[in-house]
Amino acid sequence: MAKLRIVKFGDPALRKVCRPVDEITPRICTLLDDMIETMRDAGGCGLAAPQVGVLRRIAVIEVEEGKVYELINPKIIAFSGEQTEQEGCLSNPGAYGYTKRPAAVTVRATDRHGRVYDLSGTELLARAICHECDHLDGKLYTDVQIRPADD
Ligand code: NI
Repeated sequence: MAKLRIVKFGDPALRKVCRPVDEITPRICTLLDDMIETMRDAGGCGLAAPQVGVLRRIAVIEVEEGKVYELINPKIIAFSGEQTEQEGCLSNPGAYGYTKRPAAVTVRATDRHGRVYDLSGTELLARAICHECDHLDGKLYTDVQIRPADD
């Protein structure tokens, strides 16, 4: 496994619409491993491929320690309610802002074994799912920020 460099806000990679993965190759699996290591090393709860300069629809989420979700070609298929909470991004270290997100989200994604699964989450997991899916469309939390963080 290898730690990857996380690009920062202002990098054009973060504004691109990422391409779907049509075949899960060993290279994609290595990328997933490296993204998990990079996310953990940076102390984050999610990381999207464009944040490491790879313009593919891939993200990893670990909201609860040891429970890692690998999302290949994720698509939000249901959402409901509303929550307003502080959010940050590993590509914008040290900064936070309030965003309005759905209270509950269900995403359909493929794992590294090619299995399609649905993941439902509330609270932080719902926010992480929305945040990482946004990354794959070149969207950042600051685009939907409603106010800066409290000091
Ligand atoms: Ni982010």
